[in-house]
Amino acid sequence: MQPECRPLSAAQLALMWPIECAAHRFPWSESLLASSFGERYLCVGLWSGVQLLGFYVADWLLDESTLHNICVDPRYQRLGYGALLLNDYLQRSAALGCQTWWLEVRNSNVGAIALYQRYGYHQVGCRKGYYRSDDGVEDALVLSRLQGSGE
Ligand SMILES: CC(C)(COP(=O)(O)OP(=O)(O)OC[C@H]1O[C@@H](n2cnc3c(N)ncnc32)[C@H](O)[C@@H]1OP(=O)(O)O)[C@@H](O)C(=O)NCCC(=O)NCCS
Repeated sequence: MQPECRPLSAAQLALMWPIECAAHRFPWSESLLASSFGERYLCVGLWSGVQLLGFYVADWLLDESTLHNICVDPRYQRLGYGALLLNDYLQRSAALGCQTWWLEVRNSNVGAIALYQRYGYHQVGCRKGYYRSDDGVEDALVLSRLQGSGE
């Protein structure tokens, strides 16, 4: 069965939470994840039938959107699902009128950075010591994408 992207609702939080915890070294709190639903939010899952494989959370305002979270169940990473989610996000937000996209990513997250670059994101800034890390703190790279960039 070909996985497909479908919007998530708060009722599906119990499916999102284990993936959040398994995918991230420093996961969001459950209450932060629970605040990802609403008019200004795009909260979309990648589904194989009734199984949730991954999801993303973004917000949007006027012609700009920020991606706050994207993760794939570690059992199913490197199968192209992160790219499916990112592609869905860019298409959905563009359909809402977005023309500029933002995100922050850990300096050490080479896999995610490679994925974002493939989709036309490029670094526009750096927040020093922004994230907690095993060694203390680590920098956040600020990436931006303009309409028509990348895949
Ligand atoms: C980042 C993440 C969502 C990518 O999902 P995924 O399903 O594994 O990614 P895909 O299989 O779609 O990969 C698409 C491309 O991204 C790049 N990529 C993804 N993971 C990579 C890795 N670990 N190392 C290098 N490149 C990687 C590659 O270019 C890859 O294409 P390829 O497989 O043809 O080489 C996933 O690794 C994840 O959930 N990570 C933990 C959470 C996280 O760090 N989220 C980002 C926070 S900003």
